[in-house]
Amino acid sequence: MTREKPKNLWLSRWGFILAATGSAVGLGNIWKFPYITGEYGGGAFVLMYLVCILAIGIPVMMTEIAIGRRGRGSPIDAIARVVRENNGNPAWKLVGSMAMLAGFMILCFYVVVAGWAFAYTVKMLDGSLAASSVEGLAQTFEAHNANPWVLGGWSVLVALLTLFIVGRGVQAGVERAFRWMMPGLAVMLLVLVGYGLTSGGFDEGFAFLFSFDASKLSGEALLAALGHAFFTLSLASGAILTYGSYLPDGQSIARTTFMVAIADTCVALLAGLAIFPVIFANGMSPSAGPGLIFMSLPLAFQQMPFGTLFGVLFFAMVSVAALSSAISMIEATVAYLNEKHGISRGKAAIGSGTVLLVISLLAMLSFNVGADWKLFGTTLFDALDYLTSRWMMPLGGIFMAVLAGYCLRAEIMRDELELSPAGYALWLFMVRYVSPVLILMVFLHALGWLGFDPLERWYWIASAIALLTIVGEGFRPRVMPALAGR
Ligand code: TRP
Repeated sequence: MTREKPKNLWLSRWGFILAATGSAVGLGNIWKFPYITGEYGGGAFVLMYLVCILAIGIPVMMTEIAIGRRGRGSPIDAIARVVRENNGNPAWKLVGSMAMLAGFMILCFYVVVAGWAFAYTVKMLDGSLAASSVEGLAQTFEAHNANPWVLGGWSVLVALLTLFIVGRGVQAGVERAFRWMMPGLAVMLLVLVGYGLTSGGFDEGFAFLFSFDASKLSGEALLAALGHAFFTLSLASGAILTYGSYLPDGQSIARTTFMVAIADTCVALLAGLAIFPVIFANGMSPSAGPGLIFMSLPLAFQQMPFGTLFGVLFFAMVSVAALSSAISMIEATVAYLNEKHGISRGKAAIGSGTVLLVISLLAMLSFNVGADWKLFGTTLFDALDYLTSRWMMPLGGIFMAVLAGYCLRAEIMRDELELSPAGYALWLFMVRYVSPVLILMVFLHALGWLGFDPLERWYWIASAIALLTIVGEGFRPRVMPALAGR
């Protein structure tokens, strides 16, 4: 059997877990999860998101890490190699190209949001958020965005920091920084949750997050939950696959995946528990949109003892978490240019960075002078988010599952995943029958092509999965032999 030789490996046993957690935990958890949960009405959305993480996110993440480690390269190269090993169709590498493109597009709006976190760290420090009212904070946020020079300056700063770290190589910087950053972030969130418990809004916040009201679920919301599951685990966008390519042989992919997914989900739920009590205690609306955390949390920091200190620490941690995610989004592109075209990492970072700067500045203008420039009916900032989360990542996820479930020879994934027969059979069942069907249904429903409501008719979906399983296993059995340990 020919296995690719690893070129760069993580420095320590914890390297991959730290870096993958650093990629997964970011603005998606602290900024995006609360604000879209607020927009889509709370508990029902949260439940759908958790189902998507379990039924789709975890199996797809295992697949991506396994393909990355097997192919040892950027998404395009790793997929090409793994497919070649199976005499498959070389066109599969387009899935890698789409993933890389998605990662890059996400970064173009992500740096703007990360810029908010950086700016708010400074605002906490210099006291310009002190003694603000709810309205005052909304105004501060708007004023910050209205000035393209200020907003653009912060975006450029984040982009340059990201490129600098990626240009030097991810392993060294990232592994060291994460050791203290992840625990630090968890402590800050716990402080905020603790404050929330005393703020008088906790019960309402808790109920908002965890009480299920199916009437609030639209097709839109389902697709948003699915897209967010991909976004928050950094899937179908090159990041996890590329990091997987640095994973040493012999480390358990399943255990690693579970650790990363659990950490990521805990941070998101903690962020929700930190933020919604503040929102309800101050009579704010949970559906305030992308500015939600920036308009609410400073209020909590004002009212708690040592608030300035905690506030500075909190936004600083969020900034670092954002940076560690941003790095992973462009790592695939830099690795690709480096491996395939022999361009040095530094030059690759400068080259891709130039494109990044141009597009991210255009996206930044969506908040001020470019508010009327429309792409697909929304601003450029929203369009980048929409295209990646609603289209590219779900489609990439289907392809990834189909590639692993149908096209690759069974031994290859089994070798890489090193699961027990039952564990392997379960994984195979998910990527062959469950994940693709679920993604497809959510997708068709959001497009209005499904003709029925997948939540009301959940048993239709279960039947579709059962039918596909019977046909698939009869026609080309894979799961059954795996279950028998063959
Ligand atoms: N998962 C990160 C977050 O939740 C964002 C992220 C990092 C990402 N790398 C990615 C999203 C690659 C999509 C693709 O903030």
